[in-house]
Amino acid sequence: MDKSFLESLEYLGSQTSLKPKTGIVIGTGLGDLVNHIDIESEIEYENIPHFPISTVEGHHGKLIFGFLNQRPVVVMNGRFHYYEGYSMQEVTYPIRIMKLLGIKEIFLSNAAGGVNPDFEIGDLMLIHDHIDFFPENPLRGANLENFGPRFPDMSQAYDQDLIDLALSEAKKMDLLLHQGVYLGNPGPSFETPAEYIHYRTIGADTIGMSTVPEVIVARHMKLPVCALSVITNLAIPGRFDKNSHLDVQKAAAKAQKNLGNLLISILGKLQ
Ligand code: HPA
Repeated sequence: MDKSFLESLEYLGSQTSLKPKTGIVIGTGLGDLVNHIDIESEIEYENIPHFPISTVEGHHGKLIFGFLNQRPVVVMNGRFHYYEGYSMQEVTYPIRIMKLLGIKEIFLSNAAGGVNPDFEIGDLMLIHDHIDFFPENPLRGANLENFGPRFPDMSQAYDQDLIDLALSEAKKMDLLLHQGVYLGNPGPSFETPAEYIHYRTIGADTIGMSTVPEVIVARHMKLPVCALSVITNLAIPGRFDKNSHLDVQKAAAKAQKNLGNLLISILGKLQ
């Protein structure tokens, strides 16, 4: 295995002895979940050898170890986006580290634009499939044989058992939880009206600038994935206004309570 992975792990091992069972990536404006964690240690990305450094507004850039609803977790508060200039390997480096830390499944969250006319701002959508519009695949280049195969299967990228669990927990909570397809775009510009129509036409329900590279790398390692979009803006013909990062953050801030409650109850059911 590449020395860099081992050096990151060695540093993390010197900071915490917690053995996380679940990994969580917190999306733009969704950081409130952190307030529900019994934190054991918080580690700034910039102190972890070989970790990229997060730059985007609304991201804090910390790896948090602790317990969420009794479950030992490692949480990325702030992720790395391709649009910040990182390579696809850098964007997904922490996912490999979380797997090496021993997690059994990973939960990914994102702020996303809704193109399904049944959606409203603030709604949650469980991702059951995706469409990849990033210009490069994070697995391009020499295959990391220790992690997985050259040509990983993507026929069921989003874990059906976790989807079923999320749906049943949402139902118990009386929480509206859509299901749909997430389209990953590199950004950082938002889409034009014609592009939103195009993406809706080819099967997207939400559009965002993250998650897809992380899912590919997680599936390369056979890590079960559950991913959720928070709808922060609508891009539906006739209901489409200007987009801004600030509005995305504000809408995420309002919706994050539901996302947090859902994750907390799902984690309570994991073995
Ligand atoms: N497009 C791309 N990324 C996004 C959007 C969007 O409309 N909303 C939040 N992230």
